[in-house]
Amino acid sequence: MSETILELRGVSKRFPLRGFASFGKSVHAMDDVGFALARGESLALVGESGSGKTTTASVIAGLHEPTSGTIFLGGVPARPPRSRAESLARKKKVQMIFQDPFGSLNPTHTIRSILDRPFLIHGLARRGPELERKLEACLEQVGLSPAAEYLRRFPHELSGGQRQRVNIARTFAAEPEIVLADEPTSMLDVSIRMGVMNMMLDLKEARGVSYLYITHDLAGARYMCSRLAVMYAGMIMEIGPTEAVISKASHPYVRLLKAASPAPEAGAAREKIGSSGEIPSLIDPPAGCRFHTRCPYAKSECSASVPALRDLGGGHLVRCVLY
Ligand SMILES: Nc1ncnc2c1ncn2[C@@H]1O[C@H](COP(=O)(O)OP(=O)(O)O)[C@@H](O)[C@H]1O
Ligand SMILES: [Mg+2]
Repeated sequence: MSETILELRGVSKRFPLRGFASFGKSVHAMDDVGFALARGESLALVGESGSGKTTTASVIAGLHEPTSGTIFLGGVPARPPRSRAESLARKKKVQMIFQDPFGSLNPTHTIRSILDRPFLIHGLARRGPELERKLEACLEQVGLSPAAEYLRRFPHELSGGQRQRVNIARTFAAEPEIVLADEPTSMLDVSIRMGVMNMMLDLKEARGVSYLYITHDLAGARYMCSRLAVMYAGMIMEIGPTEAVISKASHPYVRLLKAASPAPEAGAAREKIGSSGEIPSLIDPPAGCRFHTRCPYAKSECSASVPALRDLGGGHLVRCVLY
């Protein structure tokens, strides 16, 4: 059995609303989210915008504290850091790649000063030839060479794809165990996405890291990850081995998602699922299954209580009364 490096148990996150009229109300961004990630494994977190994917990554990274539930890192419950050293240790172990390659690099810093930071603050290299070697290797790994050419540039002198490569280089510079990649290619031109995805797969192999790969694209999730979790309105609706979740998509929402994405198998018949409506408000989320307001198969029991995640076998779980 491979070692569990990250586990979420019953994690919920609510963001309290501000203002007198909304006193006591909150956004239910994550509700009872649970999953485990093994060392070297890649899990895709798929869901439409507003389903709680970024919130999930942020609580794992320690950028927000969960409202309830526990996050285990290497089997140990993560708690709010009580010192700078504890905070640094968590940051080193868990690194996040943000969606926006433009916003996530400080525009006033050169690529050199952006990249030498993780080496220096985590004590991974000393200034001098050691740091130079590491900077060079770290840029070459992400396909930016000759390194010297890039080190003296500013972020605005790079293309979107090159900036995202610098972001990824910075992430790996810290020698993390877990990389949370939050839609790392969604803001890139389609023509360069594949190159960045392949590079991320190579880095994963070379470094033995675990990925939580966030995307709204089922095809990208399938390409990158061996397991897949689908979130809807803050809850995991289905989770399991990627091929099982895609070929035997079970939750009506996941079937809808599959029907709406480019055909995974050439010539595969597409299911027609009628569904209308929008993702529900997370301030007063619907009682019971969060999808029942849009679900073509909804019955009265669907609004009564939240269905449990049921095991369909082989680690494929679905949260729906139909099973
Ligand atoms: N810092 C925050 N304060 C208040 N609400 C937030 C905050 N971050 C996210 N939310 C809300 O939580 C919900 C889930 O957001 P998010 O995790 O960003 O979803 P996704 O990444 O799947 O698009 C959304 O309704 C969003 O508006
Ligand atoms: Mg997001």
